Amino acid sequence: MRSRVTAWREQGERVGLVPTMGSLHEGHLSLIRLAARETDRVVVSLFVNPTQFGPGEDYESYPRDFERDAALCRAENVAALFAPPPEEMYAADASITIHEGRLADGLCGRSRPGHFDGVCTVVAKLFNIVQPHVAVFGEKDYQQLAILRRLVRDLDIPVQILAGPIVREADGLAMSSRNRYLSDADRKEALCLSEALGRARELWDEGERDVVRLRDAAGEIFAKHPSVTIDYMETVDPETLESVSGEVKQLVIAVAAQVGPARLIDNMVLGA
Ligand code: PAF
Repeated sequence: MRSRVTAWREQGERVGLVPTMGSLHEGHLSLIRLAARETDRVVVSLFVNPTQFGPGEDYESYPRDFERDAALCRAENVAALFAPPPEEMYAADASITIHEGRLADGLCGRSRPGHFDGVCTVVAKLFNIVQPHVAVFGEKDYQQLAILRRLVRDLDIPVQILAGPIVREADGLAMSSRNRYLSDADRKEALCLSEALGRARELWDEGERDVVRLRDAAGEIFAKHPSVTIDYMETVDPETLESVSGEVKQLVIAVAAQVGPARLIDNMVLGA
């Protein structure tokens, strides 16, 4: 991987990396297309990273379909698909982990201890292996994106981070590889996430700036779906991810919920 990228760089080409865990959907394809607009060669990494899954999470059952993913990458003219086996990525006695100690504490970090250590470590490794000029991540994983911007800033990693907007199904459900865990009934229930965030957006567009009223409007929709277990719904500052209160000029409403077998996340950025 490194020698290929070196050859491209020597020809003066710019390289974009789209890190993924595979099971590609339109959301990923939109990130690949964004990378293709910004760079000359797009590398997609496909690696279900064991270190970002906690005990009892879905590492084993995470959907894997290499042939389908490879065909999708080919159709997008991806220059290289980097899909290392886990034993090649991690030495058996690997002992260094990157820990972000501020942004990673709340939201998903609270419910998934160690998750962002795994993400930061694997992304730093992918950056070292692929040495891209640009890397593209989705805004659906809003906290991940904020942490990875911090990673390159604080460790002086010369990679520009670009963000791609959330891609939604026609009915509003944010695209996710985990959506395939949902039964038809679960899927209907899962719509309350985008519905609640959409309601907050409507109020925002009508001029509502009070955090409590925005939260309450979203909360009323969740209350109608008792089968959906809300892990958190938080109103945070888009950059620091700290809780906001009172009247605000900008915020992110971030939500995580268990819907049947799937843990889903979604968010809405307002005013930023
Ligand atoms: O967002 C993901 O799919 C993963 O967290 C990432 C960034 C590929 C790291 O494993």
